[in-house]
Amino acid sequence: MSKPQYALITGASAGLGLAFAEQLAAKKTALILVARRAQRLQKITQELTDQHGIKAHYLVADLAHPDAPDKIFEQCQNNQWPVHTLINNAGYGVPGDFDHVDWATHQAQLNVMLNNLVKLSYLFYPAMKKAGCGGILQVASLAGLAPPTAGHTLYGPMKAFVIKFAHSLHLEAKDFGVHVTAVCPGFTYTEFHDVNGTRKRMNSLSKSLWMNADDVVRQSLQALADNKPVKINGWRNRLIALMTRLFPDKLIRALFQSNIQKYRQRSSD
Ligand SMILES: NC(=O)c1ccc[n+]([C@@H]2O[C@H](COP(=O)([O-])OP(=O)(O)OC[C@H]3O[C@@H](n4cnc5c(N)ncnc54)[C@H](OP(=O)(O)O)[C@@H]3O)[C@@H](O)[C@H]2O)c1
Repeated sequence: MSKPQYALITGASAGLGLAFAEQLAAKKTALILVARRAQRLQKITQELTDQHGIKAHYLVADLAHPDAPDKIFEQCQNNQWPVHTLINNAGYGVPGDFDHVDWATHQAQLNVMLNNLVKLSYLFYPAMKKAGCGGILQVASLAGLAPPTAGHTLYGPMKAFVIKFAHSLHLEAKDFGVHVTAVCPGFTYTEFHDVNGTRKRMNSLSKSLWMNADDVVRQSLQALADNKPVKINGWRNRLIALMTRLFPDKLIRALFQSNIQKYRQRSSD
C-alpha cells in the first residue's frame, strides 16, 4: 500500500487552521497539525482520526522560535510523513503603537508570520517540485492589500509581504506542477480577536463584513486546487480590494481612516 500524502497545517488548534483540518479530513487527507496547545491538538487529532478514519499526527511547536521549522521538517522526515500540502496559517494581531510594543513581541510576530512561513515553504517546497505536484497555501489577509492604519503596525505590512512572496513562488512553481496560493480573508469569526483582546471593539463592526471560517476555508482550498495566485475571500472583500486599486490613493486612504481606523487599537486607547 502506498504511503499517505500529508497536509501540514500550522495554527491548527483553532479558527481557520481547525477548519482547514476538518475540511481536509472530510476529504480523507492525512494530516499533520501544528500549534502550541498540545491538549487541543491531541483532542482534534483523535476526533478527526475517529470520525474520518484518516492518518493524523500533531506536532507541538512554537513558531516564534527561529529553529521551529527545522524541527518540524526533521520530525516529518524521521517519521516518513511526506508533505504534499503545506498550509502556513498560524498568525495573530498585536494591538498598539510600534514603539509601545516590546521588541520580544515584535520579534515573535515576525518569526511566526514572516520568517518561519518563508522557512517552512523553503524546506517543504523542493520535495513537491521533485514530485511534480503538491501545494502551498499562504494565509495572508485583506489587510495586506488595504491601505495602512495606525496601530497593529506590523500586521498589514507582513501580510503584504506574504501576498507578494506567494505570487513570486507561484510563478516559479507553476512550471513544476506545484500550486502556490495566497488567500486574503477579511474579518472572519475565529478566536483571532479574542486572543488580541479586541473582540468588544470589533463587535460594533457591521455583521455584513464578517465571514465564517468554514466558507473562507472552502474557498481557499478551491483556490489552491485551481492554482490561483491570490484569492480574496468574499465579494465584499473583493470589492474593497478593487476600490483600493481603482480609487485615487488619497480618497481610499481617507475612507480607511474614517471607517477602519477606529477598529485598530492604539496604545493611547
Ligand atoms: N480572523 C480574521 O479576521 C482573519 C482575517 C484575515 C486573516 N486572518 C489570518 O488567519 C490566520 C489564522 O488566524 P485565525 O483567525 O484562525 O486566528 P485564531 O483562531 O486565533 O487561530 C490562530 C492559530 O495560530 C496558532 N498560533 C499562534 N501563535 C503561534 C505560535 N507562536 N506558534 C504556533 N502556532 C501559533 C494558534 O495556536 P496555539 O495558540 O495553540 O499555538 C491558533 O491555532 C492568521 O494568519 C491570521 O492573520 C485572520
